[in-house]
Parts: sequence; C-alpha cells; structure tokens
Amino acid sequence: MSWWLKLLIGLALLLALIAGGATWYLSTSDQREPSKLAFAEHCADCHGDGLQGTSAGPDLVSGALAHGDTVPQLMASIVERHPGSDVADWRESISSESIKALALYVAERRRAWPSTSDSYFLDVEEQVVSSQYHRFRVEKVAELVARPYAIAPLPDGRILVAEKSRGLSMVTPDGVQGEPIAGSPEVWAPIATVRGSQLTLGSLLDVELHPAFADNGWIYLSHTHRCQLDCGSPWPVSMVRVLRGRLRDGQWVDEELIWSVDPDYYTVVPDAVACGRLAFDNAGHVYVTVGGKAPYSNLHKLDTPYGKVHRVRDDGTVPEDNPFYLPESERQEGSTRHTVYSYGHRTAQGLAAAPGGQAIWNTEMGPRGGDEVNRIEAGGNYGWPLYTGGIDYSGEPVTIGEDLGLDFAYEDTVPPVVEFTPAPAISSFTFHRGEQFPGWENDMLIGSLKARTLYRVRLRDGVEVEREALATNLGRIRDVEMGADGLVYLAVEHGDNGSLLRLVPTSEPM
Ligand code: HEC
Repeated sequence: MSWWLKLLIGLALLLALIAGGATWYLSTSDQREPSKLAFAEHCADCHGDGLQGTSAGPDLVSGALAHGDTVPQLMASIVERHPGSDVADWRESISSESIKALALYVAERRRAWPSTSDSYFLDVEEQVVSSQYHRFRVEKVAELVARPYAIAPLPDGRILVAEKSRGLSMVTPDGVQGEPIAGSPEVWAPIATVRGSQLTLGSLLDVELHPAFADNGWIYLSHTHRCQLDCGSPWPVSMVRVLRGRLRDGQWVDEELIWSVDPDYYTVVPDAVACGRLAFDNAGHVYVTVGGKAPYSNLHKLDTPYGKVHRVRDDGTVPEDNPFYLPESERQEGSTRHTVYSYGHRTAQGLAAAPGGQAIWNTEMGPRGGDEVNRIEAGGNYGWPLYTGGIDYSGEPVTIGEDLGLDFAYEDTVPPVVEFTPAPAISSFTFHRGEQFPGWENDMLIGSLKARTLYRVRLRDGVEVEREALATNLGRIRDVEMGADGLVYLAVEHGDNGSLLRLVPTSEPM
C-alpha cells in the first residue's frame, strides 16, 4: 500500500470517529442536561421524577399552580415555598441563574412540548378548533415531497413552495405538487441528519412575490449559494444570496442578482442558521435576514454580513439613506456595511412588513427561552449575544457576548416587543389581512417549530395586548402566509417531507 493510501484511510477513520463521537454527544445531550439533573437531585424527592407530585410535594405538571407558572413566578416559588427545608439551605449556595434554569425546566415540562428531535417525527393533526374569535378547520391541502421552508401563494390560487433540498416547485389549487421548476437555483442534498435536523450547504430559503407582482411578475428568491474550488475553498462553502426572476411557460427566466457577498464570507456553517427571509416595504425596498453563519464575534462587525438585516432597492441598487451607507469609493474591499439596516440578530426566521408597509418586523429564535418579536429600526442594535431573555441550553447564563469582549449598554439596544419564554422555537409569521377571519385583522400569526403551534399576537401601539395559541400538533411550522382566497396557509415539515395546511372558517361541531 502506498503511503498516501494509508494516509487517506487513516484520515477517513479519524473523520468517522469524530462524526460518530459528535453524533453520540448530540443524541445523548438531553440526558446530561444540567437543569434536569439538578431537578432530579434537589426536587424529585418531593415533586417526583416526572414532576407528577408525591405525598411530600404538589404535582407541578398537570393543572394550575397555586402560585403561577411564568418563569419569574416559578423562580419566586422555588425561593419562597420551601422554608426550613433542604431546598432553603441549598438555595443559599446556588446562583439565581441556576434557579432560573430550574424554573425554566418546570415551565418547559408543563408545556409538554416534544424535544426538538421528536418534533420532526410526529404526525400532523387535521382538527376543528374553537378559538377566541373564530372557529376553524385545519385542513391538509397537499403532501409535499421534501421539507418546506417557505411558500408564496399566487393571485390565481397556485402556491410556490421553496423546499430546502429540492428547490422551487408549484402546487396547484387542487393540491398537486409539480417537479422542481426548470432554471430555478440549484440546491444540494443534505450532508447529514443529526437528531432529526438536516445539515445542508446550498438550499432554497425563501420565495416572495414583489408587491406589484400582478404588473411586473417579479418573484424574489433567497438561497444559500454554494461553491468550492471556484471560489477558492478546498471544501464546499455557502452563503445567502438574493435573486429575482419570472415564471414563463413553467420555467424560471429573466434571473437577476439582487444581493450577494464576497466569496470570502462564504462559510462551512450549515444553512440551518442562514435565515435568508425576505420582505418588502411600501417604498420599493427589499430586506433580507442573514443569521450567524460565522462566529458570533461578527454580529457586531458592520463590515461582515452575518447577524444582520440588509436592505437594498428592489432592483438591487443601494439606497443612500441606509444607516451605514458609504459611497463605493470609500468601501473596504468586500464589506457589506452599506447594505446593513440593523445588526446583533440571532436567527431571524421570520420577516414581514406590518400593515401599511411602513414598518418591518422580525421573529428571532432565542437560545433556551427568549424567542423574540422585534420591530426593525434603521441602525438598531438588537443585542445578541450580549443581551437575551433566555439562558444557554446548558442551563447556564449566556456569556458568549462577554467572552467575545462585546461591550455596549442594554439601553443602547432595541428590546424585543414580544418575548416567548420558555421558547417554542418561533419561526416565520405574517400579519393577518382579509375577510375570512375578520376578528384577527392585522394580528400577527406566528409559527413555531418545536412547539408545533400557531400563535396569534395582537399589537396595539407597538405593544402586545393579546396572545393565543390558535392550534397545536401541526408539525414544525416553517412559513405562514395569507392566500389569495383570504385563508391562512402553513408550510409544515414532519418526517423527511411535509405538508401544506390551511385554516378554513367553519361552523362544524368538534
Ligand atoms: C422537601 C420537599 C420539597 C422539595 C425538596 C422541593 N419542594 Fe417544591 N414544594 C414542596 C411543597 C410542600 C410545596 C407547597 C408549598 C406551598 O404551596 O406553599 C412546594 C411548592 C413548590 C412550587 C409551587 C407550586 C405551586 O402550586 O405554585 C414550586 C414551583 C416548587 N415547589 C418547585 C420546586 C423545585 C424546582 C424544587 C427543587 C429545587 C423543589 N420544589 C423542591 C416541597 C418540596
């Protein structure tokens, strides 16, 4: 055997070992979760392993709690409800963050959400729901071939579907999905699946119609463009890119590049954190979210594209009133500073214009707890990873920001308008408009992944005044859109494929 063959076999074995180790580590991390272990050690004697209660302490999961079940209320209960016990002694020696982690653990268990990996493999439930303002049926419109990421209902009732690893396709009004559309951007099969999550490099991320689509036919796509040797990398790398094009005779044509970055900013970090959500305001701008597809230290470096909302005109030119605009002659090579609209974002999986089209809002996943809804302000710093309502998955406070040496005052950041703790993993959303559900007019309809729940949030004067879980057991909701028929459409993933669902008003009994 030649030396290079031995070297190659050695390298392959080493890689297999690392991959095996990583898979084992990730698949067993639930059992090592520190707040679960802390509960078993300090609380389970009285409240039971499954939190179901014993003769020495009340049930913490089924039914209402006497002293409330928000995270702050649970923290207060842990501190105040156990005078003169071991818990009282032990409390002295642990940090308030650990108490928060335990409170979050109890709150999460009360929600009975599946684990992230289990959430992929549960079936979708067609159901009739009586919600606060409307009674509706959840109905399956189509089975999808691959996991969907976004949908765009067309005025004629057809629906464009962006499937991450299959690309762009069309679903007819009677629920038949076509083959990938010829000429649309190339996508790549997943590299691996870890705990249900597919790791991809080169996927389709969003599809949106131009606000004047009826006149100009423009369709906007965002995808992670993948390259390798052709952009100077020994291994495959990818990065968010925005294109527009039109459909003619069932083909993707007239393609134009609207926003892209220098190949130096392409990375091997999988696309799950790429984001790539698109939205239009009423002044001819298109916005795109870019997640932390690189070390977090970049989120506050304005010259790098990561952790930002970017803004360009709908033809890809750069508006001079962008908050960090620089004329071309003054730009650092490769910098994207001139298109940055806001920064310090984590994983913005949702982006949409509020009714009227003036304000842009996003949804952003927190770490463990602290999912956020934000109103996007020009030049705004959204604080991640120095400030968050959540804690780390390990149960420890998030110290990434400090570790990176980030230093800015909380007062200089834009706080979220709505927070979800514990975190359902909120994903994409839309503002409801239309005749079918008049009681929801202008409300946010927000999807979630792990909780498989559609939420309705009402804002008045920029403040949350109402929140309702409209329906649950829906699959991992990747996109929420209003159809041309005024019905609410959802793209959900379950297993290795997905479904297109819709909410239809009904007077049917349950
Ligand atoms: C020695 C037994 C004992 C241990 C250990 C114990 N608890 Fe309790 N816990 C109780 C009892 C009894 C109550 C009811 C007291 C009351 O309502 O004032 C209670 C109340 C609570 C409540 C409020 C319940 C409600 O209805 O509002 C919470 C939350 C709670 N415990 C969490 C914990 C956590 C978390 C731990 C571990 C850090 C823990 N407990 C450890 C006995 C225990």
